[in-house]
Amino acid sequence: MILAVWGKSLAYVCFLTLLLRGVTGKYNKNTRKSLPAMPKLITQHGYPAETHTVATDDGYILTMHRIPYSPLSNSTDTARPVVFLQHGLISSSVDWVIMGPGNGLGYLLADAGYDVWMGNARGNMYSTRHNKLSAMLPTFWSFSWHEMGVYDLPAEIDYILTNTTQKSLRYVGHSMGTTMFYVLMSKKPEYNAKISRMIALAPVAFLRNTKSPFASITKLVPSGVLFDMVSNWPFFPNKKFSNGLLEAFCKRGTITQKMCTNTLFQIGGFNSNQLNQTMLPTILHYFPAGSSMKAWRHYGQLISSGSFREYDYGFANIFKYGNLYPPDYNFAVIITFVSLIVGPNDWLASPEDASLLHRKLPNSEYHEIALPEFNHFDFLWAIDVKTLVNDKVLSLLEVDQDY
Ligand SMILES: *[C@@H]1O[C@H](CO)[C@@H](O)[C@H](O)[C@H]1NC(C)=O
Ligand SMILES: *[C@@H]1O[C@H](CO)[C@@H](O)[C@H](O)[C@H]1NC(C)=O
Ligand SMILES: *[C@@H]1O[C@H](CO)[C@@H](O)[C@H](O)[C@H]1NC(C)=O
Repeated sequence: MILAVWGKSLAYVCFLTLLLRGVTGKYNKNTRKSLPAMPKLITQHGYPAETHTVATDDGYILTMHRIPYSPLSNSTDTARPVVFLQHGLISSSVDWVIMGPGNGLGYLLADAGYDVWMGNARGNMYSTRHNKLSAMLPTFWSFSWHEMGVYDLPAEIDYILTNTTQKSLRYVGHSMGTTMFYVLMSKKPEYNAKISRMIALAPVAFLRNTKSPFASITKLVPSGVLFDMVSNWPFFPNKKFSNGLLEAFCKRGTITQKMCTNTLFQIGGFNSNQLNQTMLPTILHYFPAGSSMKAWRHYGQLISSGSFREYDYGFANIFKYGNLYPPDYNFAVIITFVSLIVGPNDWLASPEDASLLHRKLPNSEYHEIALPEFNHFDFLWAIDVKTLVNDKVLSLLEVDQDY
């Protein structure tokens, strides 16, 4: 009980401290030898890895990482089916490989014969460049996951299909990585032809039942044009000070570690058994990886409105949309088959909201992870992530192996 209260107050304090220092501090260069940056994080395990950059129509320069094949399979000359992996809010392509070969989805997919591409949404530590704008300018940060869906995904997907000379790819997203998919498909339904299959881990569209205090904080932030103008800032960027603090704070054997894990559980749902406490400092070297405050506020608007709709600009909606309210995203045009995989104890992407999404999507199926305490972050960092999540993803993808 005391720990829960502690965890809750600490979540708020950490949140504010990290937000402020994150905005002003130095970028984390990921220079520590034991914790290399991408793509060395992959090649150190003997897997080949590539870095690709692609510019979006609105000028953002994104970095993608690729595991073209696995050393365990050797058919590098044959065309391999492509899987595209898209991370969640304030995260990065590191999500898919942090658990190492034999566990991480990136490696398992490569082992199974896929050509694995991993996106990095605008604003994270690998995608903070722009053709014209500096990341020091507020205008650079004036985007939410709406723009990630409408600009980032098409740029990345078209680049991948050109490079691999394939007609379509499979898409796996976590959390915001799934939100971006619904935005893309709703606004540009022609991408139904380019995405043959979608696996949604911790799917986020409706946020009517979210229990996370981290999410509720967003409701305290007023909306409106004036506030928008002063809130175009980075959100939890990967900085030396803030990530270093988290790493030290969450180290195994320190008295602060319990508070640290409680803070994480406050965000994503309580579950102490699947989080490997030894791994935490490593995880927190790369996470959080940064996004925009506007992306977070857009989620806050979904919590307040209960709808899955475009960004709310207050009275300026009338100029932007020709209406008092932002338009809803349209699920009816999403033809691609979507497998929703839901954590029973996910405080952000709750089973209730995922069921509602399942009813809205014309072609979808609903699965729950077979562990009652499974939470939002377990999809990435669970000790048993292979058996609980990744084996399931592989078997669902196999269904249309011959697409
Ligand atoms: C890889 O190459 C070895 C030796 O050439 C061969 O025996 C094996 O069947 C190949 N494996 C795959 C998955 O193609
Ligand atoms: C795909 O990317 C690789 C690595 O950059 C490059 O060597 C290759 O030529 C590209 N293929 C096509 C068809 O663009
Ligand atoms: C936790 O992570 C450490 C360091 O990567 C690893 O050695 C250990 O086997 C992991 N524990 C479990 C239970 O998977």
